[in-house]
Amino acid sequence: MSVKDLVYKTRSYRRFEESHHIDLKELEGLVDLARMSASAANRQPLKYLLYNTPEYCQKIFPSVAWAAYLKDWFGPAPGERPSAYIIILGDKSIAESFSFDPGIAAQSIMLGATEAGLGGCMIASIKREALRNDLKIPERFDIVLILALGKPAEKILIDEIKDDDVKYWRDDQKNHHVPKRRLDELILKG
Ligand SMILES: Cc1cc2nc3c(=O)[nH]c(=O)nc-3n(C[C@H](O)[C@H](O)[C@H](O)COP(=O)(O)O)c2cc1C
Repeated sequence: MSVKDLVYKTRSYRRFEESHHIDLKELEGLVDLARMSASAANRQPLKYLLYNTPEYCQKIFPSVAWAAYLKDWFGPAPGERPSAYIIILGDKSIAESFSFDPGIAAQSIMLGATEAGLGGCMIASIKREALRNDLKIPERFDIVLILALGKPAEKILIDEIKDDDVKYWRDDQKNHHVPKRRLDELILKG
């Protein structure tokens, strides 16, 4: 797959075939892509928790907030929930802040997931204290981002943005539409 195809296909999926099992080895391979990504001052302060069992997925799901723009949708129903999660932690014993590292690492992981026929969603809206308690995450780690992963079970369409409205939406067939700004709007004339 070309880089362009990979990037275009790497969308935020929120509905999955929950019965699709993702091996721990696959998750480790994705974290290896994050490991090889750029890191400010090469500090590499990020750590990763990997979960791929129904028991842990059930524990994590209530701490994740889905698709704030979809006011009448409360997240994936049983059967269409993620079958794995990667939780990105910031190790405060290594750095006080984590700069742009989490976004770079997350995108590397999501691109790898696409290549592997998976998909997912980066989640920053997290009930952090509840999650910390449920998973017994030590205070030394900031909970930075969750990557919800699975085999995608929804169609995502890219629309050209209209009236500056950035809100994604679902059509009658439950296809998910994401408005993107045009290239000539992004590139400023110097
Ligand atoms: C840093 C970051 C945090 C995000 N947090 C959430 C979140 O908490 N819940 C959610 O459903 N989507 C979340 N998203 C996904 C965005 O809503 C999504 O990227 C956006 O709608 C554009 O869709 P696309 O990724 O398919 O281009 C997040 C994305 C990023 C980059």
